[in-house]
Amino acid sequence: MEEVDSTNENLPETYDFLPVVSNDVDKLAEKFVTETEHEKQETKLTGGMKSRGKYRSRSLSASSTDSFSSASYTDTSSDEEGSTPREKVQNNSKGFDDFCIKNIGQAAFGRREVEIAEQEMPGIMALRKRAEKDKPLKGARIVGCTHVNAQTANEVAAALAEAGISVFAWKGETEEDFWWCIDRCVNAENWQPNMILDDGGDATHLMLRKYPTLFKMINGIVEESVTGVHRLYQLSKAGKLTIPAINVNDSVTKTKFDNLYSCRESILDALKRSTDVMFGGKQVLVCGYGEVGKGCCSALKGMGSIVYVTEIDPICALQACMDGFRVVKTNEIIRNIDILITATGNKNVVTREHMDKMKNGCIICNMGHSNTEIDVQSLRTPNLTWEKVRSQVDHVIWPDGKRIVLIAEV
Ligand SMILES: NC(=O)c1ccc[n+]([C@@H]2O[C@H](COP(=O)([O-])OP(=O)(O)OC[C@H]3O[C@@H](n4cnc5c(N)ncnc54)[C@H](O)[C@@H]3O)[C@@H](O)[C@H]2O)c1
Repeated sequence: MEEVDSTNENLPETYDFLPVVSNDVDKLAEKFVTETEHEKQETKLTGGMKSRGKYRSRSLSASSTDSFSSASYTDTSSDEEGSTPREKVQNNSKGFDDFCIKNIGQAAFGRREVEIAEQEMPGIMALRKRAEKDKPLKGARIVGCTHVNAQTANEVAAALAEAGISVFAWKGETEEDFWWCIDRCVNAENWQPNMILDDGGDATHLMLRKYPTLFKMINGIVEESVTGVHRLYQLSKAGKLTIPAINVNDSVTKTKFDNLYSCRESILDALKRSTDVMFGGKQVLVCGYGEVGKGCCSALKGMGSIVYVTEIDPICALQACMDGFRVVKTNEIIRNIDILITATGNKNVVTREHMDKMKNGCIICNMGHSNTEIDVQSLRTPNLTWEKVRSQVDHVIWPDGKRIVLIAEV
């Protein structure tokens, strides 16, 4: 088993947060649209997908592969380099303009996407019905910051804006855009959020650092990601977490279903869309045999891949063995593998040293939430050449011609 830092204590103070599974935006859309129908409930939403330049990375999931949308709508402008929604003035059909998205004209298409997603969510539909009477969120002013499904991100953002929700998010945001969007949601005139719905802790940390007085007026936080929860624990240890926070991963329907089964599906979908790789016979190393890792291993095994696992937790390692996977040290196997997937939430799981040893054509991607799992920064050296192959797919080329395929780069 790999002897590496499992504590997450050394993670950087500001982590990038990476994303989620394909339906998350729709869940939010559902929730937020419903909320605005309630009296005196307000929501501002930020999130989005950043473009090349000063990137933020995302983990590999359906949400991170936007090359081949299966949607029927063709958004010819959505990936235009250089065009920024921040320069556009837009209104929805009712004249509402407190949003910043790619194109409000995509609202009808986005609404159809939301409706399609509803079919897959009988639980949340039932909850919405129940909440219609109880109005449990009456008075809530929620700032939401989350990842979305890349294929339909811009369209769903448009649907939200058309519904009167202040949404600041678009596919292709730069790092600076990303923080600008959060800022616009947190610090707006005539608006004071009293709840945070976070996914990675970015909204929480921005508020705490930049607007401590506003933060004091927050009643509670809901945090979706393991990484965000680690950050909350760090705050708590430092005595800075002065308000209650809910860890969504404490809900069994999140960890045991979303992390496991959604990732079981999205890993194949994402790799296929981004690389067109055939899985049969490929040697795959999955780092981490938690819920996400289990889902990835199961899917890849089902496709005929030869799957290896690294784990630092003896019980999870034993589970991997009992499920028929070989538990290895990364160095044992690194020269042979065709695909490497990180699913630990930890940092520096894959180092430059590992990547130097990989064979030509090896695909490397992160399924976890934190972009610190793969030391991508270490690949930014003058002797390596970067070549963008398609959206979210880069080739990194070594001086001898060896190239690795990096998905959803930082
Ligand atoms: N991509 C997605 O759609 C998606 C969905 C849910 C969760 N996530 C993210 O995936 C990550 C994992 O989530 P999870 O629910 O599986 O968490 P988990 O805690 O169940 O599993 C993580 C596993 O990684 C192991 N690990 C930690 N450091 C390691 C290392 N250096 N080498 C090998 N193994 C190591 C741990 O022992 C643990 O078993 C988190 O960052 C989470 O936020 C991503």
